Amino acid sequence: MAQKIVAGNWKMNLDATSAQQLISEVIHMTNDEYQGDAQVIFSPSFPFLGMVNHQIKDHERFHLSAQNLHQEEKGAYTGEVAGAMLKSVGCSYVIIGHSERRQYFHEDNALLAKKIDVALTNGLKPIYCIGETLEERNAGKTLQVNERQLSEGAFHLSGDAFSQLVIAYEPVWCIGTGVSATPEDAQEVHASIRQLIEDKYGKEISLNTTILYGGSVKPHTAPELFAQKDIDGGLIGGASLKSRDFVDIIKAFA
Ligand code: PGA
Repeated sequence: MAQKIVAGNWKMNLDATSAQQLISEVIHMTNDEYQGDAQVIFSPSFPFLGMVNHQIKDHERFHLSAQNLHQEEKGAYTGEVAGAMLKSVGCSYVIIGHSERRQYFHEDNALLAKKIDVALTNGLKPIYCIGETLEERNAGKTLQVNERQLSEGAFHLSGDAFSQLVIAYEPVWCIGTGVSATPEDAQEVHASIRQLIEDKYGKEISLNTTILYGGSVKPHTAPELFAQKDIDGGLIGGASLKSRDFVDIIKAFA
């Protein structure tokens, strides 16, 4: 069965003091209020990774993710961050292919495939994001777009390597907009993603792949989303910046 995960993507928000406080609140509240077996992932900006790692390292449930990495191992790439660096400060995951990276930094599937490779080489599990824009959805291209992002970005991997991935389905029109896909619409896409993985890698790998939903997940929408058969948790933006909201989303698994 796929691991249940709630991952908080802080994007370019918070400072050291507020980050530290948020982590400490989430750890305490989760430990007090949630007994299930979901993993919780924090994805802060680069400067806070070491600090957050220090705060979570004695708590088995919590894991650290970066929001991006460079596709090369090392070298003269001023301002960039390598996979080995992320691993050395305690990251076990890295978000790859978030729609904001695709849109604002022109990252395409070929580049993202390289980032996935370098992440895996360095022992990081990619959280690979896919999802259609509103225009693509309205044009009836949802499944086609997601299939292409999945196959061009990740289907070059062996089955063993693919098993390290978490997939995050994030319809672009739902991210930060307050509009969420309905649980039924999200489930339909999740089921089709799982089918694509089964067609490529077989049933066992497809059933064990965590497929997260992302896009305006809130405490009141999470329970119904997480109850869907093929939704294994969420990638949470805005609501991960408030400890009460984030912990209530974690508790939505119960
Ligand atoms: P949101 O962001 O929850 O603020 O919509 C989700 C994401 O971008 O991962």
